[in-house]
Amino acid sequence: MHYRTMTINDYDAAIALWSESEGVRIRDADSRQGIEKYLLRNPGLSFVAEAEEGLVGTIMAGHDGKRGYVQHLSVADSHRRLGIATRLVSLCLEALKNEGIQKSHLMILPENEAAQTFWASQGWAYRSDILLYSFVNGDNHNV
Ligand SMILES: CC(C)(COP(=O)(O)OP(=O)(O)OC[C@H]1O[C@@H](n2cnc3c(N)ncnc32)[C@H](O)[C@@H]1OP(=O)(O)O)[C@@H](O)C(=O)NCCC(=O)NCCS
Repeated sequence: MHYRTMTINDYDAAIALWSESEGVRIRDADSRQGIEKYLLRNPGLSFVAEAEEGLVGTIMAGHDGKRGYVQHLSVADSHRRLGIATRLVSLCLEALKNEGIQKSHLMILPENEAAQTFWASQGWAYRSDILLYSFVNGDNHNV
């Protein structure tokens, strides 16, 4: 398995992986342009795992100078339970740490029990002490 930084050239393979991934919601912000903007704004913080047959894993991260935000962790069904997500998370956290980011957040769909077990296995704590609020600035509610 080969691990490297994600680039916009990975977009087609990544969107194909996410489309098949039950725990990843694809929004308009995941357009090629949206992902390119995200990668340029957060250089070196998103990673892919590549097998001989191509891309089999992704993780994306960014930060606001204080907190890190992790998203789009996805491993191809054919390659799960091999430690690929664990490695992607550790690459991502190392890169965030190198930027001075010591605490990160992520969102999980409530029905995604596999993800909840996975993140708990990585030492991430479920927060019952905060509520997440979102605001849509415009008419597009799929943004
Ligand atoms: C969640 C996901 C990323 C895990 O990827 P993975 O490469 O299989 O994970 P790892 O092999 O690194 O798993 C590490 C540990 O996490 C736990 N774990 C992983 N998948 C699990 C599952 N389906 N059920 C229960 N525990 C699981 C196990 O403790 C596992 O260790 P073990 O295999 O020694 O028992 C993968 O199942 C996936 O892509 N799911 C769909 C997308 C998704 O839900 N992404 C998360 C969005 S928040």
